[in-house]
Amino acid sequence: MKFKIILSVFLLFAVVIFTGCKLKSEGNNMESNKVLVAYFSRTGEQYSVGNITEGNTEIVAKIIAQKTNGDLFEIKVKNDNYPKGYTALTEYAKKEMQKNERPEIVGNVENFEQYKTIFIGYPVWWGDKPMPVYTFLDSYDFKGKNIVPFCTHEGSGFCGTQGMEKTGAKVLKGLAIYGHTAQNDRTEADKKVSEWLKGLGF
Ligand SMILES: Cc1cc2nc3c(=O)[nH]c(=O)nc-3n(C[C@H](O)[C@H](O)[C@H](O)COP(=O)(O)O)c2cc1C
Repeated sequence: MKFKIILSVFLLFAVVIFTGCKLKSEGNNMESNKVLVAYFSRTGEQYSVGNITEGNTEIVAKIIAQKTNGDLFEIKVKNDNYPKGYTALTEYAKKEMQKNERPEIVGNVENFEQYKTIFIGYPVWWGDKPMPVYTFLDSYDFKGKNIVPFCTHEGSGFCGTQGMEKTGAKVLKGLAIYGHTAQNDRTEADKKVSEWLKGLGF
């Protein structure tokens, strides 16, 4: 009888400890799988799509966020002097790059440490990332995290812009998609994003 009581108490403890550990580890996994989709994108006149009210990259960012259940963060500059006309914008962006500026960005990602995977999206500008994206990369600690780059462009593809290893993050396979596809053919954009995410295990 005494033995049975001791055994029952022992089993009860074992069940409580096992369940507790399992819940704890599931909780941790959930936390570490949180996704952030940070993006920079412009409206106004853009190459090959005319005057747009939703940026090409923004469209892709929203598709990714919806499919990964991720949180969106728009990288916006504090003093937004980017021209709305395409040619003027190209000239402005060129000067900003030549000066290697780090334009101040608005707001912060809340609880950045909760995100294990950060998608970072931008339009390719002069074969590079727009300077506000560099500001964003300089602003957070990416060590131990996954960065997943994505870009929109009109022919150059990533142009090597996806290499963000200097941040200390592991950089996963990115997606480069034509801006006009994102803007004018959302079914195709959706398909490309889905296939890519599937390849990444999402
Ligand atoms: C300043 C500037 C520079 C650009 N440079 C390139 C380039 O080097 N290669 C390319 O393929 N497209 C280039 N483009 C086209 C954009 O990458 C493309 O239109 C993009 O989809 C715009 O995205 P957004 O609407 O999210 O800003 C450039 C556009 C601008 C405004």
